[in-house]
Amino acid sequence: SLSVTDYLRAHIRTVPDWPAPGVQFRDITPLLQDPKVFRVLIDAFVHRYMDKDMRPDVVAGLDARGFILGAVIAYELGVGFVPIRKKGKLPFTTVEETYELEYGSATVELHTDAVKAGDRVLLIDDLIATGGTMMAGKKLLEKLGATVVEGAAIVDLPELGGSDRLRGEGQLPLFTLVDFA
Ligand code: PRP
Ligand code: HPA
Repeated sequence: SLSVTDYLRAHIRTVPDWPAPGVQFRDITPLLQDPKVFRVLIDAFVHRYMDKDMRPDVVAGLDARGFILGAVIAYELGVGFVPIRKKGKLPFTTVEETYELEYGSATVELHTDAVKAGDRVLLIDDLIATGGTMMAGKKLLEKLGATVVEGAAIVDLPELGGSDRLRGEGQLPLFTLVDFA
């Protein structure tokens, strides 16, 4: 009887030297591929956010793996899903946020009518590394007057400092299921 954390950890694939030498890529696709594991994964989030105090008005998913998780979690919670996309993909008017990467920068966008002022939003991605992507998502939602009640991801890479930064100066409560040191 493994804990949920250990069960999920055992189904995450580590790919050495991808996408660059020295990187140990934590690949979550095996979690989605096995229907039993997929259900345990989604239920871990759904049980947390079904709770009366935690239930969001909207789930926002970060491009691209946050779409897979976020859409299923939203469906199960009975709330809507909105995508936060990499720049240039959304057709309607958007707000945008640019953030720094190790080399260069990235810009993400959100439709201006995706959330309403006062909405309580759950923000979902697959993994937190530097935390830049999730912080940018929080800023986009706040530009529209929404409140991010929590950020959630399958994996945290705590040694990169992103989760500490999000919780600290980012003022964002976080829920993650598996840490990789
Ligand atoms: C990865 C991951 C997160 C982000 C985490 O996505 O899925 O979205 O990076 O990194 P951060 O905490 O340092 O911001 P990636 O940029 O590889 O995009 P993809 O989903 O399109 O593959
Ligand atoms: N897996 C998925 N996305 C990532 C990773 C990883 O190991 N590192 C940075 N973004």
